[in-house]
Amino acid sequence: MIFTVAIDGPAAAGKGTISRAVAARFGFAHLDTGLLYRAVGALGGDPVLAARGLTLADLERGDLRSMAAGQAASKVAVLPQVRQALVAFQRRFAQRDGGAVLDGRDIGTVICPQAQVKLFITASAEVRAHRRWLELGGDKAQVLAEVRERDARDMGRAASPLRAAADAVVIDTSDLEAEDAVAHACAVVEAGYWSER
Ligand code: CDP
Repeated sequence: MIFTVAIDGPAAAGKGTISRAVAARFGFAHLDTGLLYRAVGALGGDPVLAARGLTLADLERGDLRSMAAGQAASKVAVLPQVRQALVAFQRRFAQRDGGAVLDGRDIGTVICPQAQVKLFITASAEVRAHRRWLELGGDKAQVLAEVRERDARDMGRAASPLRAAADAVVIDTSDLEAEDAVAHACAVVEAGYWSER
């Protein structure tokens, strides 16, 4: 069975929590595509060569979750050749037997426009910065500034900018507990699953 759930949205909106929960609930495989861009940014050197030679071991580096790695990721993510080098891997993952959840910025719009379910997870910049600050600490004003900077770069780039697909279900998690956001997302996936049968 091929069944793809595409989950997009800005930094710290709750994509990761929702994606992991949907994957666990339905028994689907999960790919956090942000890790691909984080690994390319962290490898340094020529980002196009890094993207072309990326291995699974590169995704297991311990330093990929930091704010700095997020900023480096969004800088290499503007490069069309970097994005192009990562397309085939993501599409293969989406087509794996048994179902797949992919989360990122352009999954519903570019990587898997045919996905059976598309979710766009968002929240205010202030709420997202607060969550990132709880996770990583640091100076709160600086965390908010970095979230805004990354939003602007991700939404403003020419290659696969961050935006909701026309047929995505939008979930704003600003005022939702994680478990309520997860329940909402699971209900949308379940409805999509049964409409395919
Ligand atoms: O976890 P968080 O939402 O902060 O970020 P991430 O999903 O790990 O993505 C890090 C950066 O990679 C983003 O700011 C984007 O610039 C880039 N990215 C992308 O361009 N396309 C994707 N499908 C996933 C990430």
